[in-house]
Amino acid sequence: MSAIRETRVIQKGLENVYVKESKICLVDGENSRLFYRGYTVEDLTAHSTFEETAYLLLYGALPSKAQLEEFVTKIESYRPLEAGILQLIRSLPLSCNPTDVLRTAVSALGSYDPDPTTSSMEARIDKSLRILAKMPTIIAAFDRLRNQKDPIPPKSGLGEAANFLYMLSGNEPETYQTRVMDVAMILHEEHEMNASTFACTVTASTLADMYSIITSGICALRGPLHGGANEAALRTVMEVGDASNAETYVTQALAQKKRIMGFGHRVYKTWDPRYRILKKIGADLAERTGQVKLYATAVAIENSTLRHLAGAPIFPNVDSYSGLVFHMLGIPTDLFTPIFAMSRVAGWTAHSIEYLESNRLIRPKTFYVGETGLHYVPIEQRSP
Ligand code: ACO
Repeated sequence: MSAIRETRVIQKGLENVYVKESKICLVDGENSRLFYRGYTVEDLTAHSTFEETAYLLLYGALPSKAQLEEFVTKIESYRPLEAGILQLIRSLPLSCNPTDVLRTAVSALGSYDPDPTTSSMEARIDKSLRILAKMPTIIAAFDRLRNQKDPIPPKSGLGEAANFLYMLSGNEPETYQTRVMDVAMILHEEHEMNASTFACTVTASTLADMYSIITSGICALRGPLHGGANEAALRTVMEVGDASNAETYVTQALAQKKRIMGFGHRVYKTWDPRYRILKKIGADLAERTGQVKLYATAVAIENSTLRHLAGAPIFPNVDSYSGLVFHMLGIPTDLFTPIFAMSRVAGWTAHSIEYLESNRLIRPKTFYVGETGLHYVPIEQRSP
C-alpha cells in the first residue's frame, strides 16, 4: 500500500495530461494562435465556410469544389427531422432549457437509425453528418414551438448558418448576418481536448455509437464553466447595464471571489484569438444594430477586469463577445449553448475518430483514501 502511495500522481482536472497525438487542432496558448488542421482561424474565418471547415476537420484536408458540393448536398439531405423526433420535441415542456431538448433529441436520433452501431470510420462520419445537419433544425423547431409558432422546415440552397437563422425567424437572412453567423460557427467548430471533446472521446473509447458520443459532448457542454459561459457573460453585460457601472461591478465581483464570465482559460494564458475576431465583429454589429451602449458596457467590463487582474494570466476568452454577437443577431440567450453544440459536432467527431484509430479504453483511477475492513452493522442495530 505505502509503495503505491509514494508513486501516485493525482492530476486533478487532467491538466497537462496528453491523451493522444493529434493532427486536428493546435491551441497555442502562449502565442495566441489557433490552427485547425494547420490553417489559422483568421484565414478560415476570412475565406472558408462552416461546411468547408467541417470537411477539413473530418477528412484532414480542404475539399475540391466537387467534394465540397457533394458534402453540402449530403448535409442538406439530412436536415429534415423525422416525424417522431418532431413529436418528441413537441412532447417536452415548453419551459425546457433548449440544451436539454437538444440532448434528448440527439439521443433519440439514434433510435431512428436502422443501424446506429455500424462502426467503420466512413459510417461514423456519415452518422455524425446526420446529427450535425439535424441539430439546427431541432433547436429552431423547439424555439418556434415555445413561441407558439409552427416549426419551419429547412430550405434547400441555404447553408448551415443561413438555414438556422431562417428556420428561427422565417426570414432569409441578409448576406451580412449569414456571414457573421458562419464566422461564429467556425470559431466554435473545434478546440482540441476541452471538456466536451474529452467526454466524447471517453464514450468513443468504449466503442459506443456516434449518437451516444455526441450526446456525451452536449452533456459536458451544459455547465457554465464550458458551454454556458457566453450566456453568463451576456447576462453580466445586461446586468451591469452601462459602461459607467463596470468598475464597481468588477471590483465587487472580484472582492467576493466571483469569476468574471468570459475570462480565463485552461490553455490560453494570453489573448484567445477567437475573442479578437468576435470583438471586431461585435463592434461592427453594434453600429449596424444601434446597440453601441451594450457593446461599450462589454468593453468597459473587459478593460476593468484586465486592470484588476493585470499580471495574472487571465484574459478574455471566446465567450466574452460571442454571446453579445449572437444577441445582436437577434438570437435568444438560452440558444447560445445549443449553437455551440451544433457548431462543435465536426470537432467532436474528428477527435473521437482519431482516438479510435488506435483505441485504448479510457479508464483512469482514483486514489483511495477511505477506510477498509469495516464491520457491517444490521440497520436495526445502528444508532438512530
Ligand atoms: N475571473 C476571475 N478570476 C479568475 C477567472 C475569472 N474568469 N478565471 C480564473 N480566475 C482565477 C481563479 O479564481 C484562480 O485564482 P486563485 O488562484 O487566486 O484561486 C486562478 O485564476 C486560477 O483559476 P483556475 O480555475 O485554477 O484556472 P483554470 O485554468 O482551471 O480556469 C476556467 C479555466 C474554468 C475557464 C476559468 O478561467 C473560469 O472559470 N472562467 C470563467 C468561465 C468561462 O469564461 N468559461 C469559458 C471557457 S472557454 C470555453 O469553454 C469555450
